[in-house]
Amino acid sequence: MLNRFLLFLLLMAAAFVSANAGRETVSDGATGRFLQQHWRTPVAPQGEAPPGYSELESSLLPEACGECHVQQYRDWGTSLHSRAMGPGVLGQTLVKRKSDPAAARVCWSCHAPLSEQQPVLFRAGADGEPQWVANPDFDPRLQRHGLTCAACHVRKHRRIGPPRRGSPEVIGTIDEGLPHGGFIAEPAYGKSAFCKGCHQFEPEGHALNGKLIQNTYQEWLDSDYPARGMECQSCHMPDRRHLWRGIHDPDMTRSGVTITVGIAKKRVLPGHRLEAVVKLANTGTGHYFPTYLTPRVVIIGEQIDERGSPVANTRQQMIIGREVTLNLSREIFDTRIPPGQSALFSYQLAAAENATRLRIRVVVEPDYFYERFFRAMLDRKRAGEGRELIQQAWENARGSPYTLFEKMIRLR
Ligand code: HEC
Ligand code: HEC
Ligand code: HEC
Ligand code: HEC
Ligand code: HEC
Repeated sequence: MLNRFLLFLLLMAAAFVSANAGRETVSDGATGRFLQQHWRTPVAPQGEAPPGYSELESSLLPEACGECHVQQYRDWGTSLHSRAMGPGVLGQTLVKRKSDPAAARVCWSCHAPLSEQQPVLFRAGADGEPQWVANPDFDPRLQRHGLTCAACHVRKHRRIGPPRRGSPEVIGTIDEGLPHGGFIAEPAYGKSAFCKGCHQFEPEGHALNGKLIQNTYQEWLDSDYPARGMECQSCHMPDRRHLWRGIHDPDMTRSGVTITVGIAKKRVLPGHRLEAVVKLANTGTGHYFPTYLTPRVVIIGEQIDERGSPVANTRQQMIIGREVTLNLSREIFDTRIPPGQSALFSYQLAAAENATRLRIRVVVEPDYFYERFFRAMLDRKRAGEGRELIQQAWENARGSPYTLFEKMIRLR
């Protein structure tokens, strides 16, 4: 019951999803009130478009927005937000949506939060019993687009976005005869709290070893980035670009760390002790490196012979990550690096007879957890109807590791 258990945990954890009405989730004040209303999920059906809207303005599809907002559409299409209903999520929710729609809806609340993206609707039946009915507004094209423009920017067909560049003081409705009746300028779009609903569990959510499963916003809050005026957007949406690069992107990950290698002695003869130290510092990541328990980073030292091949039995490594069991019931270790701190890996071994160099590598496995999780689903025949999708998700996850850093050190 692996998959079911995960769903259950997430149900408990993602309290924000439907029960957040009335709870203060963000700091008090206008921003908090706006976000509480804005991120009530599923987002209420948009309803009929206002009479003056053209067909293009009435459409919620990202490609419709892209007709005018070319740059945002192009950027978004390369981001993981546009793939939030990829095979892994689709495959897992395929069966769920029939057998346990409430559980599937928890997943959709972050991965496809518009009502129009959800095939079933929740209604209180005549006898007061909860009831699931087919959603007449469901648009499967929109569902596949994952986290769409409209999920972040459209409510009841009104556009809401950040204040214009250069005029942060102009907030509220801006009409000026613009398409889609103009927009509402809302400062919350520039704040980390805007991202919080999906990247931070509620305090009473699922925790292991006293630490929430998703704690990114809190990690950021505890760092000195807020005092430096650096929000999630500063790093993940620089110049308001809609790229949201993260650990899957080598350049983004490089920008978050500083890696240095020191060696005890310049020349090491065979049989003598070879000592090297790798320091990996979290110098530019606004939260733990990495923040989630799904990726892992491996620092590897190994001796290399003249032909460039690794010498047997000379490999030593250290893992940076938060390793948990596949059913999320137990934390095995947590070696993630908080902002401003660093990890030290020390390589110590006698130099082999045929070794000419020491190779230090840092390898990132962005989907380490998911690779094992999907594999287990397939092996235990738990994927049901979603089998082909889960197979695809497993292949994607298996293909995502990359080398972040590599250095060769001559031994003599
Ligand atoms: C027919 C062209 C057109 C279409 C289609 C369109 N927009 Fe716009 N949108 C505009 C224009 C023009 C503005 C005004 C920009 C300005 O003057 O600052 C605007 C403003 C906005 C803003 C406010 C930008 C800010 O500075 O905060 C947002 C957000 C927005 N649109 C989102 C969307 C979304 C989401 C869609 C699709 C569901 C969409 N738009 C479809 C033309 C369009
Ligand atoms: C995950 C939520 C999210 C999604 C999805 C999203 N946006 Fe945005 N968008 C934002 C945020 C946040 C900002 C403001 C960033 C800032 O202030 O640094 C923004 C800013 C904008 C702006 C103002 C840009 C400017 O340069 O002033 C426009 C226009 C816009 N988005 C349109 C779109 C369109 C079109 C899509 C889909 C192709 C889209 N957004 C998808 C969150 C989102
Ligand atoms: C609170 C928001 C939230 C909820 C609820 C949620 N997810 Fe996610 N999910 C995320 C975020 C953020 C990521 C990206 C970070 C990561 O990889 O852990 C993600 C990543 C994933 C991935 C890996 C990326 C991919 O597209 O293959 C899968 C699979 C996934 N979620 C499935 C689910 C399922 C199934 C549920 C319901 C049981 C669910 N999620 C509920 C926020 C959420
Ligand atoms: C409605 C929920 C939602 C909101 C709001 C949201 N995200 Fe996400 N985000 C997700 C999900 C779900 C994923 C995982 C997509 C996948 O791979 O399936 C994700 C993925 C990401 C990733 C990619 C992580 C990786 O593994 O490389 C980054 C970075 C990110 N989000 C940053 C942000 C920032 C910054 C904001 C605020 C401006 C934000 N998100 C707002 C749901 C959300
Ligand atoms: C100072 C820059 C900076 C700030 C601020 C920042 N991030 Fe990141 N973020 C990074 C870098 C660099 C990475 C890639 C390395 C990594 O994964 O830790 C990253 C990775 C991520 C990932 C990928 C998943 C993972 O396990 O690491 C997500 C999701 C994410 N950030 C969300 C957020 C959210 C949400 C906020 C605001 C609460 C935020 N980030 C603030 C720099 C930043």
